[in-house]
Parts: sequence; structure tokens; C-alpha cells
Amino acid sequence: MRLILLGPPGAGKGTQAEFIVDQFQVPHISTGDIFRKNIKEGTDLGLRAKSFIDQGALVPDSLVVEIVEARLQEADCENGFLLDGFPRTEYQAVELDKVLEKSGVSLTAVINIKVNPELLVSRAVGRRICRSCGATYHVKNNPPLKDGVCDKCDGELYQRSDDVEETVANRINIYVNETSPLIHYYEERGKLVNIDGEQDIKVVSADIVKALRG
Ligand code: AP5
Ligand code: MG
Ligand code: ZN
Repeated sequence: MRLILLGPPGAGKGTQAEFIVDQFQVPHISTGDIFRKNIKEGTDLGLRAKSFIDQGALVPDSLVVEIVEARLQEADCENGFLLDGFPRTEYQAVELDKVLEKSGVSLTAVINIKVNPELLVSRAVGRRICRSCGATYHVKNNPPLKDGVCDKCDGELYQRSDDVEETVANRINIYVNETSPLIHYYEERGKLVNIDGEQDIKVVSADIVKALRG
């Protein structure tokens, strides 16, 4: 399975990725996670990406494409992958097509998680993430059993620095202007699978499996 998860900030890409990776045994490649890891480790890439991410702006295409291209060459991607948060611009989509074509493979599907903008801000602002294993929670919609502690690994939960209201609003605007044209791009190529992301998390997961298993 060669999959892309498409959807606005807070749509549930990361949440569903945890599930899809379990079901289909493909590596989860989140460009947002890669940048956050590099920021935490203080790498050159992290330093270059930080100011864009803190403003809720897109990191320049040239930086992103290089990283994804290198990641897709790794052995664990040979039989499939799940891209989360990439591509995000038409330029990135065209570059990804070139990379796949060079390897003689093609995408299985692009899962488009649809959620109305009014719901997105509260989803992002209420999100909490495990520092150790990366599992995603929500203070109201999907709370951990114990406040501030991960159910899966007892790790500490934290809030992303770009999950403050103003930055989230900026990220949503950027999604609408720069990323949502990709819905049409993949629809034209017969790859798009639309999923109603406003349902319960488990129902969304079930719909994704149904769509992929046919
Ligand atoms: P990234 O990390 O990709 O952030 P994003 O796209 O803004 O998406 P999020 O991670 O915020 O949302 P999600 O859809 O994963 O939602 P989640 O499952 O966590 O990117 C961050 C930044 O990095 C970008 O702003 C940009 O600067 C840079 N970047 C990354 N990729 C780039 C690229 N390709 N090009 C350029 N720049 C790039 O869910 C959210 C919350 O809702 C959680 O609390 C969850 O528990 C809850 N929830 C999930 N599903 C449901 C449901 N069905 N019902 C109720 N609650 C739910
Ligand atoms: Mg995410
Ligand atoms: Zn954890």
C-alpha cells in the first residue's frame, strides 16, 4: 500500500495513521513529526524549519521534498508507506510523482479526511501528544485514562507549540489556499478516497479500512 493522508490541521491524520500503520504494516512518514524531531535535536534542518512552523507557515518546498525523497529510498518503504502531511503543495505533488515514477511504482490511494473548519481549532487546541511514543490524545474527545499520562507507555503528554488558536487559524488558511487544490489533483488522477472525518474516531478508522480493502 502506497498511501497519502490528506486533510486540514486537526482533521485526524496522525490519529488515523497510528491505526493504518497497525492494519497494513507500512511505515508512517509524517513531515511534521520529522521537523519537530529535528527542532528538538537542534539539527540544521530543525533550525531552518522552526520559524516557519512556529508561525504556522509552510516550510519551503525545496527543504521538504529532499527529506521525503531520501526517506522513501529507505528499505522499509520498499513495499509501501503512509505519507502524512506530504504533499502539501502542487509542486510537492508533482515532485512525488517523479520520485515514484523513477522507482516504477504508483500510489494506491489518497485518503482525504474531510472535517468542517469550525471543528478544527478546538481539535488542535485540545490535542495532547506523548513525548515518548507520539500517541495522540484530546482533552475532551479522546482523553487518556490518567491526566497528562500516556495510556500506551506512561510517557508525559505535551501540547505542540503551534497548537495555539491564532497559529491554528493561520494553518487552516494556508491549508485552504495551498493544499486543498491537491484534492482536485488526485481526483483527476483517480486516486482520491473521501472519508467523513467528523464521525467517531473508530468509525473513521473503519471507513478507511473498508475503502482500502474494497
Ligand atoms: P503537521 O504536523 O503535519 O500538522 P498539520 O497538518 O497541521 O496537522 P495536525 O498534525 O495538526 O493534524 P492531524 O490531522 O494530524 O490531527 P490529529 O490526528 O493529531 O505539520 C506541522 C507544520 O510542519 C506545518 O504547519 C508546516 O509548518 C510544517 N510542514 C509539515 N509538512 C510540511 C510540508 N509537506 N510542506 C511544508 N511544510 C510542512 O488530531 C487532532 C486532534 O483531534 C487530536 O487531539 C485528536 O485526538 C482529535 N481527533 C482526531 N480525530 C478525531 C475525531 N474523529 N473526532 C474527535 N476528535 C478527533
Ligand atoms: Mg498530525
Ligand atoms: Zn506514549
